[in-house]
Amino acid sequence: MKVGIFDSGVGGLTILKSLINKYPHNTYIYYGDTIHAPYGNKKIEEIVTYSKNIIKFLEDENVDLIIIACGTLSSNKEYLHSNKPLIDLLTPLDNKLDNYHKISIMATPLSIKTNAFKKYIHNNLNLIACDKLVDIIEKCEFNKLDEILQEYMKSTFDSDALLLGCTHYPIIKEYIAKYFNKRIITFDEYLKDLITEDINDKGSIKLYFSYIDDNVLKNINNILNKDVNIERKILDVRK
Ligand code: DGL
Repeated sequence: MKVGIFDSGVGGLTILKSLINKYPHNTYIYYGDTIHAPYGNKKIEEIVTYSKNIIKFLEDENVDLIIIACGTLSSNKEYLHSNKPLIDLLTPLDNKLDNYHKISIMATPLSIKTNAFKKYIHNNLNLIACDKLVDIIEKCEFNKLDEILQEYMKSTFDSDALLLGCTHYPIIKEYIAKYFNKRIITFDEYLKDLITEDINDKGSIKLYFSYIDDNVLKNINNILNKDVNIERKILDVRK
């Protein structure tokens, strides 16, 4: 199976990593729009324009399906269309988290604003708009995290689970875990069953980014920890 995956930057690599572990024989084409990250602090119209170009690029690569590996775009998936099956991150959560009493969700400001999580998770919710994290992660400024997380995490004290509602956040899970010692949920746990693989396929991974610098490379190494084929590709951003 040829799987297309995209995100605003390196965050979707956390989804890719999980899929590679479970289905190593698939062919993966990843696009990270690093030049325009973060998406979650922008207007929906702007990021939809970028995403349409990325989806077109992946369709032209002849993928069998496309994974929207971004919580922000998944929260606004009604704006996105493709001639391939388009898989978002929120639908697989539907009714899966009902056993928890209260769930805190960390996500980007745009994800929180759209209220999409409430459609799929019917518990008491504590929504935390994390406006600074994606930028910090993309720039590998991890020394800034503790101060910011302390503030974001204050309201989680009475939750029995925490959903990392942005695919960038598993990259800093160990930092987050210092402030939350109960169940931490990530999107990939519920996504993996939606795709398959043909074990006769050879398996390959190709990563495209609209911008590449040392920080992007550092994040790729840190997340995937393997040799992959990386290329810079700027997509036409006309509507
Ligand atoms: N990984 C994206 C998400 O899951 C980050 C969005 C952004 O770039 O702000 O929401």
